[in-house]
Amino acid sequence: MSMAIKHIVWHEGEVSAKLRKKHYGHPGLTVWLTGLSGSGKSTIAMRTERLLIEQGVKSYALDGDNLRHGLNSDLDFTATGRQENIRRIGEVCRLFCDAGIVVLAAFISPYEKDRQTVRNIHPEKSFIEVHVATPLAVCESRDPKGLYKKARAGELKNFTGISAPYEEPSHPDLVLDTTKTDIDDCAKKLVSFITSHLSQNN
Ligand code: ADX
Repeated sequence: MSMAIKHIVWHEGEVSAKLRKKHYGHPGLTVWLTGLSGSGKSTIAMRTERLLIEQGVKSYALDGDNLRHGLNSDLDFTATGRQENIRRIGEVCRLFCDAGIVVLAAFISPYEKDRQTVRNIHPEKSFIEVHVATPLAVCESRDPKGLYKKARAGELKNFTGISAPYEEPSHPDLVLDTTKTDIDDCAKKLVSFITSHLSQNN
């Protein structure tokens, strides 16, 4: 136990997960999208968020570029910086999930161990991992933010896929590849995966 939490006692609320589920119509869930920069994670997450909301599923999307502007603006792209980035986001997701929200988390999250840590802090069946498996060559040719070009030129250090590793998930719950399926269909596939998972656990 860390010194910081030595004199802090966990406080149970009055609303159980069961009661929340009864009122919201579905349980909370963390949908974790991992993949290279430019693979389509955020676009799929945002489209999925909209489709779910339109179906009455309480949903919220989080993504790397946005969170690194605020909560995680103090973190860099070293392995330790990414580990802390994913640890904090994992805790945020757990809270969203506990609040009964379907949270769509789109982060490169290149290390298997860090993704596993996030899975482990979630209750069973409330975490699913989606590998957005668009190949590096395609992500690099898209280069929407010009970052691959900078990484190749050595202007950007520790860039995933170029000068920093990406560890593919060994047991993803779902694999999406935007070169084989367009964004619209990827989002629809993900929505049906999520809704069937929610109904099995309702
Ligand atoms: S993670 O590795 O810690 O999960 P995260 O998803 O938060 O990364 O942020 C990735 C985004 O940061 C990329 O989409 C890209 O726009 C930007 N970025 C800036 N520098 C790097 C870098 N060295 N490696 C990867 N992405 C970077």
